Amino acid sequence: MSERETEKHECLNTALRTLHECFSITMPQMLDIAEKFHEAMLAGLTGRKGPLKMLPSFLSIPTGEESGMFLAVDFGGTNVRVSLIKLLGHGKIRVSKKNSVLLKDPGGSYDYTSSDVTGRELFCFLAAQIAGLVGSGAAVPLGLTFSFPTEMHALDKAVLIGWTKEFKTRMTEGRDINLLLHEALQRHGLHGVKPVAVINDTVGTLLTAAYGDPHADVGSICGTGHNTCYLEPLPPGRHGPMVINIESGNFDGLPVNDFDRELDLQSEKPGGQILEKMVSGRYLGELMRLVVLDLAHQGCLFQRKGGDMPGFLCQTNTFSAEHMSLILSDKTAGFAGTAAWLKGSAGIEAALPELAALHTIASLLTTRSARLVAATWAGVLRHLDPLLKNQHTIAVDGSLYEKMTGFAWRLREAMDEILQDRAGQVTLKSTRDGSGMGAAIAAASEII
Ligand code: GLC
Repeated sequence: MSERETEKHECLNTALRTLHECFSITMPQMLDIAEKFHEAMLAGLTGRKGPLKMLPSFLSIPTGEESGMFLAVDFGGTNVRVSLIKLLGHGKIRVSKKNSVLLKDPGGSYDYTSSDVTGRELFCFLAAQIAGLVGSGAAVPLGLTFSFPTEMHALDKAVLIGWTKEFKTRMTEGRDINLLLHEALQRHGLHGVKPVAVINDTVGTLLTAAYGDPHADVGSICGTGHNTCYLEPLPPGRHGPMVINIESGNFDGLPVNDFDRELDLQSEKPGGQILEKMVSGRYLGELMRLVVLDLAHQGCLFQRKGGDMPGFLCQTNTFSAEHMSLILSDKTAGFAGTAAWLKGSAGIEAALPELAALHTIASLLTTRSARLVAATWAGVLRHLDPLLKNQHTIAVDGSLYEKMTGFAWRLREAMDEILQDRAGQVTLKSTRDGSGMGAAIAAASEII
């Protein structure tokens, strides 16, 4: 090894040790976060100021006997999915027709998340997808999963408080979402499609799991965004239990570092959604880019003698959570998959220590994400059942949980660490497509 290479190698090792400290979440930190999260839940529930909105859903959990045919529209962070769903009772659900379309065309021909588009146009696009699936003569109740914070005035009246996940669509914040949908359906001649329920995706996930599992009382999304809901046994001012959308992505009592601060500053809404920016798929790739760029600036990664900084490191959003997953799943001795991706997308011939460093960074960020989410779930459980006397199922949906290499087991591991000998009381249940199916259950449910 040349002197320069040895120097670079040492620089990289030192930098990785620092990053380790920067991104580790220790067990005492997890317990502290759980406690603070619980305090913030109590504050939100009783109308005190704090980061957690604790939004009512006007729903309890289903009996499992709700039945009938429903149209479910799942408006998430990346796609809109429209499906025709038959609830069969006895906890059984059948999806008979399904269609999914991206909200932003990768080819650049449309982008319904951008400020070039209005809410009216966005809902017109949704109505067109519905017409494409069921045709104009359909007569069916519709449930909408709307994966953003909404103030619920009734099950069918949800006002968008503010966009999250970098959405910028104009003339939508402060509007009644169900009314926008209703008007778009009318414009498309879909007079028989009746929008009767709007729910959050976390609520949908919980409803779907609870349709067949009596222990399900927490629902969470680990995907483009992150959020959790739970069944509150004693909502203030109400007589019975109600599912509460915590909007936990906005939690902020967290150990942030310089990379988090930088990411927050360059985001659409600085100061908001701090937890979400540390854990969710929309932001993890960009966080990784900022870390790698910093190492490159320090001269210990991807800086070639006399060469410029690689272009792909200097542009925002060139790394994605999918890339991180690819890096983490690369089990070949020479990280051949990672090397091929770097060569193909950035023209970089990476050396083995550089590839190994990328693997370490992706692993640090994914582990931190899982441990932060687990700590907030522990906060919810502390509220529901401090001694964990009963069984609980946490229903989880979202691309990060389903697809990010190693994320699900890191979450389970962190939960085991926090809950120790009571960990067996808590089941994490992958509830695939639960967010959408839950809209059908909501449409079939009694309003409370
Ligand atoms: C964002 C939204 C929240 C949603 C979550 C997951 O945090 O504000 O409502 O549940 O993303 O999609």
